[in-house]
Order: sequence, then C-alpha cells, then structure tokens
Amino acid sequence: MKDLADKTVIITGADGLIGKEIARQFADHGSKTVCADIAFQTSVIDDRTASFHLDLTDTKSIDALIGFTLEKFGRIDGLVNAAYPHTKDWGRYKFEDTPFEHWEENVRMQLNPVFYIDREAAKVMERQKSGSIVNFGSIYGIVGNDFTIYEAYNGSSPAEYCAVKGGIINFTRYMASWLGKYGIRANCVCPGGIFDHQREEFVKAYTHRCPMKRMGNPDDIAPLCLFLVSDASKYITGQTIAADGGWTAI
Ligand SMILES: NC(=O)c1ccc[n+]([C@@H]2O[C@H](COP(=O)([O-])OP(=O)(O)OC[C@H]3O[C@@H](n4cnc5c(N)ncnc54)[C@H](O)[C@@H]3O)[C@@H](O)[C@H]2O)c1
Repeated sequence: MKDLADKTVIITGADGLIGKEIARQFADHGSKTVCADIAFQTSVIDDRTASFHLDLTDTKSIDALIGFTLEKFGRIDGLVNAAYPHTKDWGRYKFEDTPFEHWEENVRMQLNPVFYIDREAAKVMERQKSGSIVNFGSIYGIVGNDFTIYEAYNGSSPAEYCAVKGGIINFTRYMASWLGKYGIRANCVCPGGIFDHQREEFVKAYTHRCPMKRMGNPDDIAPLCLFLVSDASKYITGQTIAADGGWTAI
C-alpha cells in the first residue's frame, strides 16, 4: 500500500477509540492526514498533518473541514468516517422506554451527517475523478442484536443504533452505484465489539459468543480502512466488510 504516501485522507472521530489508531496508521504510511474531531483544536501540525475542530452535526463545520483540507493539501483522496456523535443519555434506555425525541435526535446526529460529509467529499472527488469513502457500520447494522450478552447485568443496546448502521450500510451501496462512473469508491467497515474496559460480565459473554473467542481491538479495524483507501482495493466498491472475529458468520 505504498500509494498511501501520495494520498490525502480526512479521518473523522480521529480522537476516538478506533479513529486514533486509523489516524496513526495512515500517518505511519506517509499519508497526509486531516484528523478531525470535536475534541480537537484546529491546528497545522506539520506539512503532512493537521488537526481540525469538527462538529459533524453542523453542516457549516463540515464545509469548513472540506475547505481547510483543500486549502492545506489541495485534494481529498480518502474520507474515513469514524466519528460517533450521540446524545448524552445514549445507552440509557431499553426499547420500550426509549423516548421518541431520543430516537429522533440520535438518528439526526448519527445518520444525517454521513450523507452531508460524504456528498461534500464526493463533489471534490468527482472533480479529481478519483477517491475512496469509508463509512462505519457495525455488526448490528448487518444482523440483529444478541441481547443475551447483556443479560448478566440487565443491560441493553440502543434501538437507533441498528437502524442508523443499517441505513449507513445501504446508503454506502447507493453511493457506490452512483459515484462509480467518476472513479469514486464507497465501502462500509463493520467492526465487532471493540475492547474498551467494558464490564467483566459483558466481556465474558461477548467472548463466549464470538467464534474467535475475543473482543476486537482498534488495530483489527484500522488496516481495513487503509486497504479501502489504497489502490490495493481499486476494484472494490459498495461492500460491507465486517471485522468481527466471525460474529456475523453464525
Ligand atoms: N467501539 C466499538 O465496539 C464499535 C463496534 C462497532 C462499530 N463501531 C463504530 O465505529 C465507529 C467509531 O467508534 P469508536 O468506538 O471509536 O467511538 P468513540 O466514541 O471512541 O470515538 C468517536 C469519536 O467521535 C468524536 N465525536 C463525537 N461527536 C462528534 C461530533 N459531533 N463531531 C465530530 N466528532 C465527534 C468523539 O470525540 C470521539 O473521539 C463508530 O461509528 C461506531 O459506531 C464501534
């Protein structure tokens, strides 16, 4: 994937559990990176790296990110969407108790920005006649939830999550179909559960159910994003690729 050294890549959510590793690995491969996150200040770090204060839920902020990237690096070869905006009460409700406003707001925050940032990046890529967009789904965009893994502590998983992730997966196919003629590819990475010091009962139940008998790590996911941006995947588009230790295989 030597071609990554010639590419400019925007990574959203670059301060997150998975995004941080993605940003690190692109930088290791010599890519020019714009690492965007709501937790960052905008700053030019060196001639190959910049950070950007992005609020993905604000279209003006996305416009500013695209403008900043073009001004600094002149092009956008890859967009990796690993940001994960959600409301403060995320994860609090069981299905029956989920307030409609909570559903509405999380769909607005999680799904709508993917349309906007993908469309804006695609406009730049159309002019270039090349580019690769990597969206983030989840195993729960592919299959229904296995609620038994939350049973030991009476937990759950938000209903919006599967709806948003399923939506992102099929929206990615739409873009692949529409944008293919411009030489633009769009694919969806679907991680399984990533270890982040979750409660012991959850980790135990997850590990038991997962064919590879472990949770994932950010470095199980990042190389897939690099592959999908690089020319090594130049004929791959519209695909939903799970890195999940076999979770969706059974
Ligand atoms: N961690 C997992 O187990 C897992 C499993 C399956 C899928 N995923 C998916 O992978 C992606 C990344 O997940 P993660 O675990 O790294 O999440 P994370 O919460 O660790 O990181 C998300 C990042 O997004 C940033 N962010 C939040 N709101 C933002 C906003 N409005 N604008 C810009 N940035 C904002 C946060 O500051 C954070 O750095 C998500 O789409 C998630 O659904 C994660």
